[in-house]
Amino acid sequence: MITKQKGTYDIYGEEAKKRAYVDEILDSLCEKYNYGYIETPVFEASELFHRGVGEATDMVQKETYDFKDRGDRMLTLRPEGTAGVVRWFIENKLYGNMSEPVKVYYNAKMYRYERPQSGRNREFTQWGFECFGSDDVMSDAEVISLAYNAYRLLGLDNIVVRINSLGDDESRNRYRDALLDYLKPRINDLCEDCQKRLEKNPLRILDCKVDADSDIIKNAPKTIDYLNDTSKERFDKLKDLLDLMDINYEVDVNLVRGLDYYNHIVFEIVLNDSYALGGGGRYNGLVETLGGPNIPGVGFAMGYDRTLLAMEEEGVHIPINDSIDIYLLYVSSSEKDTAAYLAQDLRLNGFVCETDMMSKSLKAQFKSVDRYNAKYFIVLNDEDLKDNMVTIKDNKTKEEEKVNINDLVDYLDMHM
Ligand code: HAM
Repeated sequence: MITKQKGTYDIYGEEAKKRAYVDEILDSLCEKYNYGYIETPVFEASELFHRGVGEATDMVQKETYDFKDRGDRMLTLRPEGTAGVVRWFIENKLYGNMSEPVKVYYNAKMYRYERPQSGRNREFTQWGFECFGSDDVMSDAEVISLAYNAYRLLGLDNIVVRINSLGDDESRNRYRDALLDYLKPRINDLCEDCQKRLEKNPLRILDCKVDADSDIIKNAPKTIDYLNDTSKERFDKLKDLLDLMDINYEVDVNLVRGLDYYNHIVFEIVLNDSYALGGGGRYNGLVETLGGPNIPGVGFAMGYDRTLLAMEEEGVHIPINDSIDIYLLYVSSSEKDTAAYLAQDLRLNGFVCETDMMSKSLKAQFKSVDRYNAKYFIVLNDEDLKDNMVTIKDNKTKEEEKVNINDLVDYLDMHM
């Protein structure tokens, strides 16, 4: 038997319905914030992620699905959504007319070669969004607000937004120097990967999964102490705006995030003080790094699968329709023909309709009525059909009524 790959999953049945419910909420929320939907390809040139996300990140070093296609091109399955959207932004020269910010969102499968565990898979979904063109702290607040309210609308109330600032280039460089000075004498006590990271990207050492609990990491200098005045003011202004917007946040001075492209604000949404359900931040240098002009950006991505798990753990009720509107039963071949066209007619008028397609006996069809949890059913009958009539029965009350077949839609509209 061929089985699914480790860290991948099939989505069907109730799970698919839950996702449709979540998608509807997220789509509608994005519409309110005026974000347009975007789909970018699942695979891109490897260079996009290696350069964009950062050569020295764990994601690029250990987690990307890189492969050569038959034309000898180096390709990568996207491990995250931001780099692809930036590529789209640059390729379509959307920076040419930046009288308004460009705001897009995605809901897409991502691929990372990670050790699968609860909420962490090799194929997983991110709902995320990016905003280009505004360096105003107001756009940081808007992005945090959209992310925060998405979780709230999904019924997750025990969330907090953890925020930190990495500052502008000057602040980041000052911080990098301080961090190097601190880490150099201690580096031999950290893992081999961290020793390699020291010169290339010391910031990455701070979110090393192996050394996460080490005192060396815990006591390392904090970005927030190295912010210059403008970066500090910006961070303070953001906090004021979040207060005004009544967003539950806390400053987490240890938050640096695992990707290279961030500056200024970084944030994560955390449930019950435990794990991150999503994260984002500002990336003012990324468009330029990937070959475009100097255009600022800020965005966020929700771990969609983790969020669904969290909704389950928190006992959020997801309304799932497990009934159909009407089932059509028949015996003769002419009744069967009527079932075929009437089912189409009812479906096109908006009703969920089923009929038998497995040559079942009438008794077995009655079982289907209950299995499908049909609200109404009709036993089509040649005698009545001669007069264009059908008898519709309420499956709960068992009340029945004779209705002209042409009035059936109106009858159902009135009774549902
Ligand atoms: P990230 O923190 O790497 O950021 O991923 C965002 C979220 O995706 C995580 O918080 C987590 O919930 C979920 N996630 C990550 N890896 C997995 C996995 N293996 N299985 C299940 N869920 C996972 C980014 O990807 C950035 N592109 C976010 C961003 C957008 N920053 C700016 N704009």
